[in-house]
Amino acid sequence: MTVEGWIRDHVPLAAASSAELRYERMVRQGAEDLPGVHREVDPCNPSDWVDGALIGAFLAGLGDAQRVLDVGTGDGWPGLPLARHVPEVVALDPSPRRVEVARANARKRGLPNVQVVCAPAEALPFPDGSFDGVVAGTAFEQCRDPLRALKEAHRVLRGGGRLAATFEDLAAQLRGPVEERAELYLDREAAVYRLVHRSLSPLREAEYELRFRAEDDLRRAAAAVPSVPSFVRAAGGPGLRPVAPDDPLLGIPLVERFRDLLLSARYFELRHRSPGEAAALVEEAGFRGVRVYGNPARLARDFFLGLHEAGVLPSLAPHMDALTRAFGRLYEALPAGKTSVFFLVARRP
Ligand SMILES: C[S@@+](CC[C@H](N)C(=O)[O-])C[C@H]1O[C@@H](n2cnc3c(N)ncnc32)[C@H](O)[C@@H]1O
Repeated sequence: MTVEGWIRDHVPLAAASSAELRYERMVRQGAEDLPGVHREVDPCNPSDWVDGALIGAFLAGLGDAQRVLDVGTGDGWPGLPLARHVPEVVALDPSPRRVEVARANARKRGLPNVQVVCAPAEALPFPDGSFDGVVAGTAFEQCRDPLRALKEAHRVLRGGGRLAATFEDLAAQLRGPVEERAELYLDREAAVYRLVHRSLSPLREAEYELRFRAEDDLRRAAAAVPSVPSFVRAAGGPGLRPVAPDDPLLGIPLVERFRDLLLSARYFELRHRSPGEAAALVEEAGFRGVRVYGNPARLARDFFLGLHEAGVLPSLAPHMDALTRAFGRLYEALPAGKTSVFFLVARRP
């Protein structure tokens, strides 16, 4: 049995959304500082060229869009870097914390053409046909109802408007049929146990948040869990670590031992899609010309790392925008494959 299986059998659970349970608690969105979001772009950093090429792919996918909606922007990706190239960006996220961070990032980056709106993609607060482009960075798959979110994206696009979005390829990320990671930390009077369960078949992920009354034994149990570096941690949290079902520190024995102290339990569950399934869903929402490609960042990584090792990036700095945009246009040469992210483009007829 998995830890998830034990929790489902023994704990009364209340449904929540990924925005409430995961993104609202994150200190920061993204493993590293995103260039053009958390900090200025650095032409001496090869990974900034790679991210620039991904922005180039979004721009190529968008065509000549003037007003772009970024669905599930998190801290402002890709909306904020795009706002250097298109006249107007509306960035949207249902997590108030992410919205606050994205607004602060837009201010710090000096981007008055960005408006950040707090709302879910399933109920966009915009009139029909009010955008020429919709983008999303691995966000549609985090929605409670991705089909409804895509139908909303279709509704707010004008005829001929473009969709360009990255999706997480969970199957390409998993190392085995099931993966569980957990953490335990103290949050004022409560101890919080968090479990992330991901599986290949069915292709899904679920996250559980169990809050316990933090009595002495449980405080000691939390203190015994070593910290791991993780950007998805909460403030003060030790970070998620791989966990086996019988792990005495974080597995079934822990939740079983303290079940009488349980205060509340919430969860969310997401179905993930293969590139072909994602394309079918986008078509079902009304889009046409749906095409799926590999991760534009992958090709860019080899190329720009090569230029970095050859020591030529600093001399190319004045041409960074032009070169990364040109590189981004190559996305059409990348077949969808075994990369952790895929890139989808489509248009509203
Ligand atoms: C994986 S993060 C990606 C964030 C950002 N686009 C990036 O690439 O760094 C997914 C984002 O989707 C947002 N999200 C979750 N549910 C959503 C919904 N129903 N509508 C719009 N965004 C949602 C989350 O709050 C989170 O910021």
